[in-house]
Amino acid sequence: MHIDLLIHSASQVVTCAGPPGPRRGPAMADVGAIPGGAVAVHQGTIIAVGASDELRAAYTADREIDAAGRAVCPGFVDPHTHLVYAGDRVGEFEWRIAGASYLEIQAAGGGIVATMRATRAAGVERLVAESLPRLRQMLALGTTTAEVKTGYGLSLDAELRQLEAIAALDAAQPIRLVPTFLPAHALPPEYAGRPDAYIDLVIREMLPAAARWHAASAFDGAGVPLFIDVFCERGAFDVAQSRRVLEAGRALDMGVKAHVDEFTALGGLELALELGAVSVDHLDVTGPAGIALLADSTAVAVVIPAVTFNLGGSHYADARAMIDAGAAVALTTDINPGSAPCPSMPLVMAIACRYQRLLPAEALLAATVNAAHAIGVGNRVGSLELGKAADILILDAADYRHLAYEFGGNLISQVIKQGVIL
Ligand code: NIG
Ligand code: FE
Repeated sequence: MHIDLLIHSASQVVTCAGPPGPRRGPAMADVGAIPGGAVAVHQGTIIAVGASDELRAAYTADREIDAAGRAVCPGFVDPHTHLVYAGDRVGEFEWRIAGASYLEIQAAGGGIVATMRATRAAGVERLVAESLPRLRQMLALGTTTAEVKTGYGLSLDAELRQLEAIAALDAAQPIRLVPTFLPAHALPPEYAGRPDAYIDLVIREMLPAAARWHAASAFDGAGVPLFIDVFCERGAFDVAQSRRVLEAGRALDMGVKAHVDEFTALGGLELALELGAVSVDHLDVTGPAGIALLADSTAVAVVIPAVTFNLGGSHYADARAMIDAGAAVALTTDINPGSAPCPSMPLVMAIACRYQRLLPAEALLAATVNAAHAIGVGNRVGSLELGKAADILILDAADYRHLAYEFGGNLISQVIKQGVIL
């Protein structure tokens, strides 16, 4: 058969393949590597994965890549980002160095609300122009699919502009985006002292408008879901407020996500799991009882070591205990201007291996197949398997473990997105 692309003679093809659903527990240590492997791609899709001699006998291709001495793996999926925003918060970086905490800066009017001001002042075009370079960096570092949240608009119009920017960015560059609506990310200043009135606005106006926007967007046409998310934290929204937002989103068919247990274990984790969350994110202060609940649930635990690293913290989410308990763990950058100005999934893997004691295999599965399941696209991307999108990385290393073992450089030698060599 004649096909579009054949990648062959890799030192190893790391498939990350397995049964349907995310990998959990001990299954997170098996990356499904095929020594000397090959991948056959036609019309943007993977049509065969196997030994190089077998695939070379079975296929001729318009384009062949001899990956000699290099490892091949799936493109990374970054399942939690706040990459659409205007401006930066480099000043806060210096305040934190001088001793202020993230929550103190937020209470003083910095933090998310500072980025809200800059984002509200920007039109869709400027949001796109400021966010594109971040996506370009992510792509160069191997990310081929990313979730993107709103949450810096915090008004009906400004949140919808963020959704518009996400759609424009999806169309403007190769990384496929999955939108999440996060209107309850922080309390906008015009609602100071009236959080419940803001939640009323979110439920009555913002969520229905977001659902209508999604139904008319290219995302819905392509089968890409819209998620609802909330920041359940002291200084953000409490459990009762978070419940109202998540239940209202779920009633509009949005998949449930939540920022929980980042600084304070308020009960947001238990709430999100009760509501059938697709993912629960952060989990830095989740203890043994929460970990047992996680392991018993279908939610993917998205941990974010780049935030702990960036905030100079020493207490990382106990992802080791989560995996050992049988939970499905994913990794993400959380790229945002405050808690994690970080585009790099390989750096996140490197931190997770050192401070959360993940094996490189676990970190890779957490950055690919499990991350895909955390954003509802696990049946399409995240592993090198028959029928999945041909999102493929060729590494400047013979062994995929170098992705986490080395840090500070870039081992991504070639990115292939839906069969297109970029
Ligand atoms: O995931 N935790 C809340 N939201 C972001 C931070 C956003 C910001 O600081 O601008 C996070 O860490
Ligand atoms: Fe976040």
